[in-house]
Amino acid sequence: MDTLRFDHSVYTVKEAEFQGRKIRYRAFEDLVYVRKPVDPEYQRMNLYVPEIYYEEPEKARFTLKTAPIFFPNSVGGYMPGLPQEPGATFTGIMNGAFYALEQGFVVAAPGARGRGLTDADGRFTGMAPACLVDLKAAVRYLRYNRDRIPGDTEKIISNGTSAGGALSALLGTTGNHKDYEPYLEQLGAARERDDIFAASCYCPITNLEHGDMAYEWEFCGLDAYYFRDQPEGRLTDRQKELSVMEKELFPGYLNSLGLCDGTGKALSLNEDGTGSFRDYITSLVERAAEKEMEKGNEIGEHSWLNAEGEEVRLTDWDGYVRFRTRMKPAPAFDDVEMKTPENELFGTETTSRRHFTEFSFRHSEAEGEMAESDQIRMMNPMNYIGDGSSDMCRYFRIRHGTVDRDTSLAISAILALSLKEAGAKVDYALPWGKPHSGDYDLEELFGWIGNLAE
Ligand code: DHB
Repeated sequence: MDTLRFDHSVYTVKEAEFQGRKIRYRAFEDLVYVRKPVDPEYQRMNLYVPEIYYEEPEKARFTLKTAPIFFPNSVGGYMPGLPQEPGATFTGIMNGAFYALEQGFVVAAPGARGRGLTDADGRFTGMAPACLVDLKAAVRYLRYNRDRIPGDTEKIISNGTSAGGALSALLGTTGNHKDYEPYLEQLGAARERDDIFAASCYCPITNLEHGDMAYEWEFCGLDAYYFRDQPEGRLTDRQKELSVMEKELFPGYLNSLGLCDGTGKALSLNEDGTGSFRDYITSLVERAAEKEMEKGNEIGEHSWLNAEGEEVRLTDWDGYVRFRTRMKPAPAFDDVEMKTPENELFGTETTSRRHFTEFSFRHSEAEGEMAESDQIRMMNPMNYIGDGSSDMCRYFRIRHGTVDRDTSLAISAILALSLKEAGAKVDYALPWGKPHSGDYDLEELFGWIGNLAE
C-alpha cells in the first residue's frame, strides 16, 4: 500500500465558530506525509476544505482545482508543532486557518518536529534542520497528490510566526535545494518539488548567526531586561562587555551585504551604529505611525516621536529603543551558557545544545561544542537568497511589529531588502504597536494573497 496516496473518501465534516462567525469544512486529518516517519505524532498534516465546494460549488470563490492552498505551520520557539486547527492563535484572536476557510481557501496544516523531541531511546529527533525538512516533506506530499487533492498545488502559500515565520522564509528561499535532499530521502518523502508560491512571515526569528550582533546594535546600553512574564533581570558586568563587543561587530556585517533601499540608495552603518540603514528603519517606524493615524487610531504621546499633521518624525532613536525595552540578556541567541531555544535547535541526536556562532563558541562559559557549518547554513534563508541553486518563491510578505523585542528590527529589514535585491516581490512593513505575534491583520494578509492568486 502506498501510504502517501491521498484518499479523498476518508473525512469528517466539521463546523467551527469564532465570535459568532461560523465555518463548515471537510476535514482530512492525520495524513502522515512521509513513508518512514520518525515521529508520526508531528509528521502529519490536516487538510481542510470549505464544504461549499461539495455542497454548492457554483457559489464558491474558486473551484476544487483552483483554490489556493494556505499552508500555516504552528511552530513556535523552534519546538515541535502540531497541525493547526481552525480557531484562535496563542493571543486569542482568530487564526489564519479559520479565516482562510471562511474565504474559500483550502488549508493544509502541517505538524513538524522541533527541538527537545526524543524517540523511545531518548535520542533527540527534532534538532535542525528537522522542522524545515518536515515542512518540505509536507509540501512534497501535496504535490505527489496533485491530481487527487483539493486545491492548486502550484499556489501554496506558507504562513508562520516567529520561529514559524523563519521557517516560512526558509520554505520560500530554499525550494528544491539539494542540501535537504538526504534528509528527505531518509524520511521517505515523496520525490517531488518542494518550492512554494508565496511566503508570509510574521516576526521571523531568523539569520540566527547574526541575531546577537543585531540585537546589541539595537539594545546595547539597556542593562535591564524583561523576559516574557519573568521578573526584571539585569545584565552582569560580563554580559555588558559581551554586549558592547557584539554591537561593534554589526556595522561590519551589515555593510558587507551591500544593501540598497528601493530607490538604489546604499544602506550602510557607521562604526557607532548610526547611518542610512538605521535611517531606513526609522522611516519604516514613521510610516507605521502614519498608517495607524490614517486608520483613525491614536498613536499616543511619545517623547521620541513628533507628529505634526499627517507627518510623523521619529526624533530620538535611543528613546524609541528604551520605550520598547530589552527582552533578552546578551548574547540574545547564542548564549555563552547555551540556555536559549536556539542552542537546543543546533544540538545533535545525543547532544542537547551547541553553539552556532564563532563569537559565543570562543566565549563559551559551558565548554560548549560548535554545531557543524552545514547544519547552521541550512537554517538561514540568507544563505540561499540569490544563490541560483534553489527555486525561490516570487512573493514574500514580512511583518515585524514596532514594539517587538524578540529579535532586532534589523533582522527582518535585512531579509526583506535582500529578497528584493534578488528579484522577489516583497511586501514589508512594521505594523504600529504590534508586539511579537502573528495573524493580527488577516484581512490584509488575505487581501495580499487574493491579489497574487487571482
Ligand atoms: C520564538 C521566540 C523567541 O524569542 C526565540 O528566540 C525563538 C522563537 C518564537 O516565539 O517562536
